[in-house]
Amino acid sequence: MGGLIAVERNVKPEMRVFPSVNELSLRLAEAVARTVNDAVRSTGRCSLVLSGGGTPRTLYGLLASRFREQIPWAHVHVFWGDERYVPPSDAHSNYRVAKDTLLDHVPCPAANVHPMPTHPSDPDAAARDYEATLRSYFSGEPPAFDLVLLGLGPEGHTASLFPGSPALAEPTRWVMAVTAPADPPSRLTLTFPVLNRAANAYFLVTGSNKARALHQILTGTADPNTYPAAGVLLATGTLIWWVDREAAAQQVDPDLHKGAIQGDRPGDEQQRNANVPALDESGLPAKETAIAEDRIGTNVDDSEVANADETGPTTRASRRSAAS
Ligand code: 6PG
Repeated sequence: MGGLIAVERNVKPEMRVFPSVNELSLRLAEAVARTVNDAVRSTGRCSLVLSGGGTPRTLYGLLASRFREQIPWAHVHVFWGDERYVPPSDAHSNYRVAKDTLLDHVPCPAANVHPMPTHPSDPDAAARDYEATLRSYFSGEPPAFDLVLLGLGPEGHTASLFPGSPALAEPTRWVMAVTAPADPPSRLTLTFPVLNRAANAYFLVTGSNKARALHQILTGTADPNTYPAAGVLLATGTLIWWVDREAAAQQVDPDLHKGAIQGDRPGDEQQRNANVPALDESGLPAKETAIAEDRIGTNVDDSEVANADETGPTTRASRRSAAS
């Protein structure tokens, strides 16, 4: 594997397949809320790594609205898996996307928001700055994030770990400055040594243009030098692929489908689609979905919501009063 760190696949990835990005985002938002609450319950805080790209926008919109009350934002520390080396106000900035769709709408203290720095003239100096930020948050220990959200590029890249990149073979650094075959090329990225220490990693993948790479990666034989996302092999944590049907189109391995929504009963899909709120262009539930919201309340298993939001209102009634 061309100088890459060979890591045994200790954790068989699980894949969950959904008919639409809306349904996927709703179920993923539930899982994110649950995972964040579990971390805060056990350590008093949660380190959450956000993904860049466009696919997470709907998820971020739901976390900022429907699930806003279910997440103890005061205890959440937000980091990034990668960043384009542009000013934070730039439309290409992953920080900017998260700020507009999520952080501007939730009570996460500014001191808990840790964007990757892009102001130093030397990107490598910025990478070392961010390593220092991680070192202080993790008290000098190698970072072990509670939850890492990741995307997948059509050619198999994740974060800003692109095929053939020297960063793929990095054995010790936590953050690297890289030049990517993408626009903008200059970027910062977390490395495999850090990603693979996560307690939970959720890949969010939609669209037919990702099907080939996803298929290669989930066969378990892909070379991370060619499909970098195959290099995300958590040592002990939980790795779940949240994908839509288009992205899962080439999957044939029944085992991998174990977590998938299989054997839809007639009407399941309609029922599910009917219950997913129409979302406006920024991923927030469109106003007129109040009633739908209510219907969803009915369908989301209260015990599940109860589990997910120890901090927030548990019953639909109290949720409504909290929302009003
Ligand atoms: C980035 C991302 C990158 C992204 C994939 C998928 O900064 O571009 O972190 O890894 O997750 O490129 O992007 P889409 O979700 O836009 O398809």
